[in-house]
Amino acid sequence: MTELIDRLQTGDTLSDGEWRFLIEGGYDRQQLFEKADEVRRQYYGKDVYIRGLIEISSFCNNDCYYCGIRKSNDKAERYRLTEEEILQCCGEGYRLGFRTFVLQGGEDAYYTTERVKNVVSAIKSKYPDCAVTLSLGERPRGDYEIWYQAGADRYLLRHETASRVHYEKLHPPYQRFAERMACLQALKEIGYQTGAGFMVGSPFQGTAELIADMRFLQAFLPQMVGIGPFIPHRDTPFAEYPAGSLERTLTMVALTRLMLPKALIPATTALGTIHPQGRELGLKAGANVVMPNLSPVSVRGQYSLYDNKICTGEEAAECVECLRRRVAAAGYEVVTDRGDAV
Ligand code: SAM
Ligand code: FES
Repeated sequence: MTELIDRLQTGDTLSDGEWRFLIEGGYDRQQLFEKADEVRRQYYGKDVYIRGLIEISSFCNNDCYYCGIRKSNDKAERYRLTEEEILQCCGEGYRLGFRTFVLQGGEDAYYTTERVKNVVSAIKSKYPDCAVTLSLGERPRGDYEIWYQAGADRYLLRHETASRVHYEKLHPPYQRFAERMACLQALKEIGYQTGAGFMVGSPFQGTAELIADMRFLQAFLPQMVGIGPFIPHRDTPFAEYPAGSLERTLTMVALTRLMLPKALIPATTALGTIHPQGRELGLKAGANVVMPNLSPVSVRGQYSLYDNKICTGEEAAECVECLRRRVAAAGYEVVTDRGDAV
């Protein structure tokens, strides 16, 4: 295992069998997590970056089979925040020490090129020391360019799975794998700090699919990688599938840290949902980012991607305090910083 990890760190290409061993193998996982933590401390010390997550819209024009806010879910409650509400969230976040705001939402046509551009410009002019991250799904390259010109710094667009065949089992036919990949490529070319990522334990995912994800990350070299367990949502076609496991998710986080030592990797809310200490364990396995929720409490529950999502009742201030305590108890420290990749 140690030799494989050394090779992973030098950027070596691993064979299918070697990857399979690292992902499935019967070795001491604790040792893997400790190695990942050591590498993370080399580049980032004990620092944990916080990102203020603002869920701007639960309207979505896509129909991903796993997602609770997919357009075919008639039971989903829909809301969208106005520009003014988004700016209020940023104001509150700034006071609480956030220097990155993440605007995430479903693929909502209300958020036209111009509207998003105006919000980005407004945030950047009011808080020039802050980074703005967008996570608004697939859009024409021109939109990405305009938003980048307006000051957006980063873009999160999980690739979801690097296997085309697997992608087609998770999405309806009009959602194209090639399009998702083309968007990621465009974001990177434009100059965004780009985030890819995938769910662990999504339906029909085996080790072969996870190997494809790792190889994709190794070639694409994103600055950010979001990895969280799949969690079923009761009103989706995947309601009856089991959630991804804690151990497998932590393994993929640790392997990603070893392969991309400087990456920004969140300990995700989904990880905190499948286990009470999930986010702390994520940090100890190589993650270095947490994303407390800054959305107004009145709409939190409506951004329901999966069942039993945590932190839907807390005010932003409570959520930040809770996370500061958790991060400190795990042996790290939340810092007030934009937290760009080193
Ligand atoms: N619409 C944007 C997009 O598609 O990138 C951003 C919002 S989307 C809801 C954010 C992420 O939530 C997705 O990339 C997906 O990986 C994750 N997600 C959706 N449903 C999930 C589920 N049931 N379990 C775990 N994660 C889920
Ligand atoms: Fe949100 Fe604990 S992190 S309440």
